[in-house]
Parts: sequence; C-alpha cells; structure tokens
Amino acid sequence: MKYDVENRRIWFKGEILNVNDAKINILAPTSQFGLNVFEGIPGYWNSDNGQLYIFRLEDHIKRLEKSMKLMQIDASYGFDEIKKAIIDTIKANEYDENISIRTTTFVDGFGSWGSSEPSDMFVAPISRGKTSAEYNKKGLNCCITSWRRIDDTVLSPRIKCGANYINSRMGQREALRNGYDTCIFLNSQGKISEGPGSCFFMIKNNKIITPKLTDSVLESITRDTVIKLALDAGLDVEERTIDRTELYVADEAFLCGSAMEITPVYSVDRYEITSEVGKITKMLHKKYLDAAMGKDKLHQDWVTGVYDL
Ligand SMILES: Cc1ncc(COP(=O)(O)O)c(C=O)c1O
Repeated sequence: MKYDVENRRIWFKGEILNVNDAKINILAPTSQFGLNVFEGIPGYWNSDNGQLYIFRLEDHIKRLEKSMKLMQIDASYGFDEIKKAIIDTIKANEYDENISIRTTTFVDGFGSWGSSEPSDMFVAPISRGKTSAEYNKKGLNCCITSWRRIDDTVLSPRIKCGANYINSRMGQREALRNGYDTCIFLNSQGKISEGPGSCFFMIKNNKIITPKLTDSVLESITRDTVIKLALDAGLDVEERTIDRTELYVADEAFLCGSAMEITPVYSVDRYEITSEVGKITKMLHKKYLDAAMGKDKLHQDWVTGVYDL
C-alpha cells in the first residue's frame, strides 16, 4: 500500500481525497439517525499473479441498490459509477494486500430521519487486519444473546443499514461482558438467526444446515457462496429453521461473512462443539479462499481483477 492507513485515499462525493479531508455534516440524517446503507466488500491479493481480486463485486453493488430501494434513499450514482468508484479508490491506494472495502451511501444535508435526499456516497478500503477483533480470531466461543434479532416487521435484517448494527451491538457487547468472543441471535420466534455481523452454519452427519432467508437474516453473499461451494463438493445443504439446542450437539459449526470468511465456532453457551477446526469447515474455508483469490476455475465470474481494468 502506498499510504499508511491513517492517510489512505477514499472516494467521497465524487473525488478521491485523503481520509482526513472527508467531512460529513454533524446534523446530517446519517450522523444523527444512522440513515445510511452500506457494503463491506472483500478484496484479496493474489501474489502469484500480482492481482487484487474483488470478490462478488457486482452482487455487493446489487445488494447496496436493494438496500437503498428498501430505505427509500435516492440514488445519486448508477451501478457503473459505483463500480468505477470502488476500482479507482483501490488503485489510488495501490493496495497489494487483503482489504475490506466499505461502500456507503448516506443521507446528507439538514433534513431529518424521514428525508430521502440529498444522498451521497463514500468508498473507503481498509487493510483486513484492521477490522474488528472477532473477525480476526481463529475460532469462536459464542453465547446465545438474550437480545432477539430484529425482524421484518420491525426493522428488516434484509436491509444492510447502519441503524441495524445497534441491535448487533447489543448482542456483541453482552457477549464480551460475559467473556465470550461473539454471540448468535435467536429471532422473534426463538429460532436461530445469525451472528451480529455474520451468518450461521452447522454441520450434522455431513449435512450443511443454515437458517432460511426468512428467519431474520441478512441475505448474505458469503452464505450464498458457501452453499454453492458445498454443493460443488457434493455435500447436502439444508436451509431450515434451527433450534437452539441443536447447536449444542452439532458436529461442527461456523460463522461466515465477508469480514469473517469462514470462522469455526468452538462452543456455544460453553457447550463444546469442537476443540479445533472441523474437517468440513476447513475444506469449505480453503475452497472459499481459492474462489476469492481467483483460483477456482468454476467461479471465475465471482472475481474482478482491479489491476486489469
Ligand atoms: C448481520 C450480518 N449478517 C450476515 C453478514 C454476512 O454477509 P456477507 O456475507 O454478505 O458479508 C453480515 C456481514 O456483512 C452481517 O452484518
């Protein structure tokens, strides 16, 4: 990387600036009410061919556009402009390491929580090592948090908006207070939903099981990737409602997401699942990294090489 992380270049309102020069009005609805939608997009450095690959870039932009539609935030930039902004910002930093690219559209100006405009956008790539602590662990001791996951009748977890992460925060802070690495939420029906910033999978009798997209979860791109990679490997995949006690007796479990990749869950509520990474979890993580680094012949359409463009 050409610049240190405190002086990196970000794309802000159509220009590439030093991060310290990008200022947001403190009275804007994004500052006051979390009125923004965003994506955390993973980028992987492949040293064999000197290329930085963005993983599933177009799917992330499509989800950003769906979140804007659901939140009724007016779009200031089209699909191709967003894609170009992301690529230009990575190039401006000359990144040659694994990164996470925060892409946020927000409501600016002096309106209130009901405003739909003026909207704008920033794109801020960051080195992967600088993301939250739970994303950099080798394995996780989790609790079931006493806070329930938001649901589609209250604040839809399908929308990737800043405000949803207050619910995530309540669960995460409870987990840390009680000596766990992170938490898993139950939904309003008392069934397993997801982690605060990740999706949940468990493995039983060689079958991969994850909650349905209508069980109060984000429509995760990693979840979709894991399902496809598991099917490629000839494994059975089941999307179904999961009970809390099923976790305690799972053969393997993991949380996954663009930031977390595939991280094994060692225990839930102090019930041990595995003492080290399980066989299937390990195999899926390897397949995931191969795909993200452009090494999977079957899924070349998932990667965008920045330095080709
Ligand atoms: C609440 C929540 N669930 C799931 C995920 C995983 O989503 P993705 O795989 O698209 O990163 C994330 C991460 O962005 C998240 O914040």
